[in-house]
Amino acid sequence: MKDKLSIFIGDNCHWHYHLIRDPDPEIENQMDLLPKGSDNFALKRKHEYIAGRICAQKSLEQLGIENFRIESGTKREPIWPKGIVGSISHTKNLAISVVSSELAAIGIDVEAVLSEERFESLKSQFLTENEVELIKNDPILGTIIFSAKESLYKALYPIVETFFGFHDAEVIKFDNNSLYIKLLRQDNKFSLFNKPISIEYLKAEELIFTLIKIS
Ligand SMILES: CC(C)(COP(=O)(O)OP(=O)(O)OC[C@H]1O[C@@H](n2cnc3c(N)ncnc32)[C@H](O)[C@@H]1OP(=O)(O)O)[C@@H](O)C(=O)NCCC(=O)NCCS
Repeated sequence: MKDKLSIFIGDNCHWHYHLIRDPDPEIENQMDLLPKGSDNFALKRKHEYIAGRICAQKSLEQLGIENFRIESGTKREPIWPKGIVGSISHTKNLAISVVSSELAAIGIDVEAVLSEERFESLKSQFLTENEVELIKNDPILGTIIFSAKESLYKALYPIVETFFGFHDAEVIKFDNNSLYIKLLRQDNKFSLFNKPISIEYLKAEELIFTLIKIS
């Protein structure tokens, strides 16, 4: 997994991933990373939050930034040190973070591949009609689109500072390890993003990773 991720994530950024165990002493020793108001988080949510923070702190350490406490903004966005962009994702048993001091935006997402049944029941919520046509009911391609849209949201939210939904962007083309997505929003906030954006994807051990880097 590490070698695949290393090639996938590539240059211009630093990253770290954590396999969440049960029990997981590294997580349990860092309960102080939880944010204010998290007393009512379910245990699973506490663990994924901490695992994401551990990854983010270890990624920042690679840039020489030690012990930085990454708070969450009002829309759950992580607050990175000045001059740094970053992103966090977690699934049931894996958390990952990427950071960069060179890029303008970055977003990462990891998802378990959707089963055929789940894909069928969810697809209208996240696919446009053209995407349904493009992927011909393939749940793996469907999961890749779902994940790519979440990566896009995480990358762009700090710039556009507004919510945009799954039908506000459309995947128009798949290549071997990447896809192209175009924003369907016309409002000014999105005017910087009027050309299709490339998003890398990787399938590893029944997980789909997507990554967007904007220079
Ligand atoms: C925010 C969202 C993308 C997170 O995705 P998810 O699969 O539920 O969860 P992940 O584990 O992959 O990512 C969660 C992390 O995303 C990050 N995140 C959450 N909101 C964010 C935002 N507004 N901006 C940037 N990053 C954000 C946080 O670090 C969060 O982890 P944390 O709360 O532990 O810090 C998703 O919940 C959501 O709201 N989606 C709707 C918006 C969307 O995706 N639009 C598609 C546009 S094409």
